[in-house]
Amino acid sequence: MPADGLRFPPDFRWGTATAAHQVEGEPADTDWWEWEQVPGHVRDGTDARRSCEWWAGRYAQDFDLARAMGQNALRLSVDWGRIEPREGKWDPEAFARYRQMLSALREREIEPMVTLFHFVSPSWLVEKGGWQSEGVVRYFERFAAKVVEELGDWVDLWCTINEPNVYGAYSYLLGFWPPQKQDVRQFFRVVHNQLLAHACAYRAIHRLQSSARVGLAQHLHIFDPMRPKSPLDRWAAGMQDSLFNGLVLDPPVDGVLRFPLSLNTRIPELVDSQDYIGLNYYSRSMVSFDITQPGLLFGRRSVMPGAEFSMEGWGETYPQGLYRVLKRLERCGKPIYVTETGVPDNDDSKRPRFLLTHLAAVHRALGEGVLVKGFYFWSLVDNFEWADGFSARFGLIGLDLATGQRTVKRSGQLYEEISRTGAITADMVKRYAPEVEDQIFSPG
Ligand code: FCB
Repeated sequence: MPADGLRFPPDFRWGTATAAHQVEGEPADTDWWEWEQVPGHVRDGTDARRSCEWWAGRYAQDFDLARAMGQNALRLSVDWGRIEPREGKWDPEAFARYRQMLSALREREIEPMVTLFHFVSPSWLVEKGGWQSEGVVRYFERFAAKVVEELGDWVDLWCTINEPNVYGAYSYLLGFWPPQKQDVRQFFRVVHNQLLAHACAYRAIHRLQSSARVGLAQHLHIFDPMRPKSPLDRWAAGMQDSLFNGLVLDPPVDGVLRFPLSLNTRIPELVDSQDYIGLNYYSRSMVSFDITQPGLLFGRRSVMPGAEFSMEGWGETYPQGLYRVLKRLERCGKPIYVTETGVPDNDDSKRPRFLLTHLAAVHRALGEGVLVKGFYFWSLVDNFEWADGFSARFGLIGLDLATGQRTVKRSGQLYEEISRTGAITADMVKRYAPEVEDQIFSPG
């Protein structure tokens, strides 16, 4: 083990990630707000009505805590439905409120990264066909430009769209999230439109702001063959990988969207449309060839027997996967931000270990020359976890929903120690998660 533990670069960004609808409360007129109010849609019957109450001003308290915890970066998003409540009508008060939030961050020397679209659409857009419609690309480009004009004095690190593959799959292929479609053609159309919208927003932002750094948050998942020696399992895992990861990973580099059966589409605007790569990484699936699953490209997904899990229904905890995806991104030759990683862990018994092992994976990649510039842990405070409501807690800070009281968790204390020292030391590992000492200091 190195004498001073695992040391990170001095200019490393230590942050957390959030999204407007999940933390703000007082939701705007959007598809999610409408959907989550229907009984049965959100697992525990909660909604985002109150959440962390950022819109009511409680962001200040959370930013104080982030500052006190030694964080120097925060990823947050703006809510399109608040800013443009009706088509072409901007709300100056919404901009004023976001300006207050952003200057509150700057006062605390926390650099904001602002996401423009994080799963939630204004209701007027949905009426016009939402992300399936052709018009959405121009609407999004106009929205992005307006946000940069209004908020560009406080922000120059932009994330256009969060996880086009997850949004497409959950909302248009698997039917889990609004508008609950299960249609492969719509899935491809939505992913296509989101990537094209990203490319157009990328150029619009650069026209308006010379210092802008623009990327998107890519969710990458590991798909491994259940039986590594089986050519069929390997083939099926490869298909899942190209459908989910490849679909969104290559287009912003070479401008080609590769759909199955070689139905490729060229989008020239996409060539070279990222200044950095945002990586969201959570888990892996094991894949077996299954002749009965043509709709899933003959791949049956399951979990690695004996692996560690966070919560029922959530995936395996697999830190090595973060190292593997970082190595995979290396060939893009761009700086990388880990824009999300985290774990649902309601009693915070696993999060300290998760944090240590995943940061050790980042450190290993850094040691091999991968250009990782920062790490945004999901999330700062427990918040509204989409269809899981408040039944899956991701925060470093606990939230008492009834009183709004915040409590820094043990994992939050650990993250503070790491952010402040810029290192993972042997002493920290001993105190917080001695069981992973070997994994941290002798990876491989
Ligand atoms: C990511 C989402 C984020 C949050 C985490 C747990 O896929 O971007 O909003 O739900 O998962």
